[in-house]
Amino acid sequence: MISPKKYAKAAKVPPNGFKTSNEFFNYVFKDKEMIWMGQNTNHLHDHSEIAEAMIDCINEGSYCKYPPPEGFPELKELVLKDLGLGDGFEALITAGGTESLYLCMNDILNPEDNAITCDPGYLIIDNFASRFACSVTSVPIYSSECGYKLTPDLVLENMDSNTRLISLIDPLNPLGSSYTLDEIKAFADIAVDHDVYLLHDITYRDFAQEHHLAADYAPDHTVTVYSFSKICGMAGLRIGAIVATADIVESVKSIVINDLGTNVVSQAGAIAALKSKDRWVDRIRDVTFKNQRIIRDAVEEVEGAFLPVYPSNGNMMAIDIHETGVNPVDLTDYLLKRKIFVRQGAYTSKIFGDRYIRLSFSIPTEQVEIFAENFVDVMEFLRPS
Ligand SMILES: Cc1ncc(COP(=O)(O)O)c(C=O)c1O
Repeated sequence: MISPKKYAKAAKVPPNGFKTSNEFFNYVFKDKEMIWMGQNTNHLHDHSEIAEAMIDCINEGSYCKYPPPEGFPELKELVLKDLGLGDGFEALITAGGTESLYLCMNDILNPEDNAITCDPGYLIIDNFASRFACSVTSVPIYSSECGYKLTPDLVLENMDSNTRLISLIDPLNPLGSSYTLDEIKAFADIAVDHDVYLLHDITYRDFAQEHHLAADYAPDHTVTVYSFSKICGMAGLRIGAIVATADIVESVKSIVINDLGTNVVSQAGAIAALKSKDRWVDRIRDVTFKNQRIIRDAVEEVEGAFLPVYPSNGNMMAIDIHETGVNPVDLTDYLLKRKIFVRQGAYTSKIFGDRYIRLSFSIPTEQVEIFAENFVDVMEFLRPS
């Protein structure tokens, strides 16, 4: 019998009617009519250039070889160029932001350390941190007072002498809040003054109206987590990167998992995505941004419901329904019956999960309209009398 680890992930509770979470995901994945607002993925690409590059790669048959273990140099260069980071920085290609997060935690954290995260947030970050650190301080940020984000003041209040890492998800999954230049500079100062690392997760960067890299202000104290899943619409291809100074990347290389490199076909798609980005990025940003208005109008029709953060700087947002008396789990179950996949708050919060649902909107506008209509209808149906 293998004894469970102290940091073992709690098994995900499957939605009603499903034996396991995996069975549920298989069901939603296979249903071609499902409106996909549950995973912050991007369904707005026509994929022509990205798909062609991957098909060419398959036709060449070169996938029978292992790739260079740190990623094709062309892709590494393109990632740095995308971020505008020049000399002194390096990129390490990974199988997604998730692997990047794990490697950063493994590399930076020691058993006596503390890591600071926020709630709501992307909970796997807390779990990964708890595998390597002594403690994880998850700061409650679901309040207009702090702008629904982890602020420099909150970080200072929650730091102690063992704090080694501060996780900044920017824009923040699930709320869509993001940081101003002054805030990023203040975090950079904290990192340098206290000799701690900023884990800057920029998975949703390209959806933001304005975005600033902590790496520009605290290069030796920042690790940037990069993903191709969202703006590039490549979530199923599982590819991302870690970007940091050459010294930090050298250190991460010593604890890699994917010793034999990252999927060759995904890397071909990622190269094509970055080379063609100028041609598609504005359209995807615009449609995503505008889709939010339809959701806002629907939320305004429901008494007691509100958007904590509007507009969102990500491609997702939360709708707070606490005052309506409707349970987020019931709402997600009912929407699923109508073939609309959204997530209950518990997926991204241990503290405030009973207050909101999270939904993403990089999907065709007609589908957002279907959501809006059904949201108003289901809320009135479920509202306790
Ligand atoms: C904040 C954040 N970081 C990382 C990831 C994981 O990205 P990837 O698909 O590249 O593993 C997600 C996925 O939703 C996310 O929300």
